[in-house]
Amino acid sequence: MNANASGLESTARSLVAPGKGILAADESGPTIEKRFQGIGLPSTEPNRRTYRELLFTTPGVSEYISGAILYDETIRQASSDGIPFPRLLESRGIVPGIKVDEGAKPLPGFPGEKVTEGLDGLRGRLAQYRELGARFAKWRAVIDIGEGIPTAYCIRANAHALARYAALSQEAGIVPIVEPEVLMDGGHTIERCGEVTAELLSQVYAELAGHRVRLEGTLLKPNMVISGKKCPAQADVSRVAEETVRTLLRTVPAAVPGIVFLSGGQTPRQATEHLNAMNAMGVNPWELSFSYGRALQDPVLKAWKGEPGNLPAAQSAFLHRAKVNGAARSGNYLPEMEV
Ligand code: 13P
Repeated sequence: MNANASGLESTARSLVAPGKGILAADESGPTIEKRFQGIGLPSTEPNRRTYRELLFTTPGVSEYISGAILYDETIRQASSDGIPFPRLLESRGIVPGIKVDEGAKPLPGFPGEKVTEGLDGLRGRLAQYRELGARFAKWRAVIDIGEGIPTAYCIRANAHALARYAALSQEAGIVPIVEPEVLMDGGHTIERCGEVTAELLSQVYAELAGHRVRLEGTLLKPNMVISGKKCPAQADVSRVAEETVRTLLRTVPAAVPGIVFLSGGQTPRQATEHLNAMNAMGVNPWELSFSYGRALQDPVLKAWKGEPGNLPAAQSAFLHRAKVNGAARSGNYLPEMEV
């Protein structure tokens, strides 16, 4: 194994170390604006910087958080005392990562479907991000379930882009997090989510193999297999855990060191309960962990509201969600931990 391959593998493994998971703090400009609107805070550069500093400097959080995914603006920002965020994170034992896709755009000829852009110039951007301290990256593909969708072509186009991105990341010495997300919007059943997720993951691993991506130096960030938000028959926690693990066992090679779920619109508590139930089912070929955005941050934003005086309460909300998800990594989460 060459030095690059072993470096990628050890970074990937450290991101799914026991009891730890990833903080997704890579909201794009429009997305963080939406989150700030929820607490009546204008999305200015100083507010975004202050908020990310709050997260990254939370005392004790590195016991449960292995890595943090940043946005292009964030990786270039620094703490109030002038330490660049990537260096600050590293000094706290948190691996800095970067979102490198440029968003999901309408797929021409396929109404209602999207393909993620950002491959042009990616080699150069990856080299620059590595200079800035990024050791892993993320690329998100978005698949919607609806009348007649997803089409096989949309799945193939997105899987192909994910694999191109993954190969380029590994070439740059950066661990690719491969994120194919089946959205939980809509009225579909858990069975339909399972079918689409299985088809998507099969295609993604076929493309990764085709692009000669070394799976040991990658992580998968999928949706859970779950009922659509508007489905009248909502599957319970144990059903979600069983369907998700079954689907992953059928499609994800054992060479992948870890699967880090997105929360995708689940409540913070649901996201923790589902992860916990999966880990309580027993041993799997890969680590089952988290890379949550909203499920880690929603309670933090609510506690903070942009007020400096609320900083301790906001940090303690973050530490709490990190800790309960850390417990869910080994199936040791208990509802009593919520009080
Ligand atoms: P959520 O956990 O809020 O879905 O965000 C995770 C993420 O990184 C989506 O790309």
